Amino acid sequence: MNRTLGVLISGRGSNLRAIIDAIAAGRLDARIAVVISNRADAAGLAHARAAGVETLVLDHRDKARYPSREDYDRALVAELKARHVGLVCLAGFMRLLSPAFVSAFPNGILNIHPSLLPSFPGLDAQVQAWAHGVKVSGATVHLVTADLDAGPIVLQRPVPVADDDTPETLAARILVEEHKLYPEAIRLVLDGGWHLDGRRFLR
Ligand code: GRF
Repeated sequence: MNRTLGVLISGRGSNLRAIIDAIAAGRLDARIAVVISNRADAAGLAHARAAGVETLVLDHRDKARYPSREDYDRALVAELKARHVGLVCLAGFMRLLSPAFVSAFPNGILNIHPSLLPSFPGLDAQVQAWAHGVKVSGATVHLVTADLDAGPIVLQRPVPVADDDTPETLAARILVEEHKLYPEAIRLVLDGGWHLDGRRFLR
């Protein structure tokens, strides 16, 4: 598979940094062609700049340029394709993707989610898991389909929930695992030799 990555972020960018670090350490054979944020103030952009990776801001609130979600997504696809991106990595990108975006990269978009899917999709997954009282939560990397947090699962990692956890301490423990899991999942997908059997990702 084409090892050129495009990473999409909206905020802190700690998973982006984990990917950058894995590449720098030789644990992940890939190149990040571009990091795109929908917010100019995304702190994660600094990680890309520090690593000498091109950054772009496409502000979804710019309605003159992007009247509809499809217009915005078309612009994203154009920027990614212009840089020959083969695998798109969503890393805290807080936007729903239209079917047009998803179909532009068939089985070529990954997302990381801070719960053991299909439990607790959507926003604030760590708070949802904590409030539900599960004893184990974790992190999931999955292929992106048009349905939110519902694509085939590439890798998961469990994280225990302690009685004295708060949503914040649980989220912090999950994040440590996310940073290991995402580069591993990207490597798996790039290395190929996998196929989908229904929604099962098999090697
Ligand atoms: C992570 O918890 C990720 O699982 C979720 O959004 C958060 C992004 O954090 N999709 P960061 O921007 O990578 O630090």
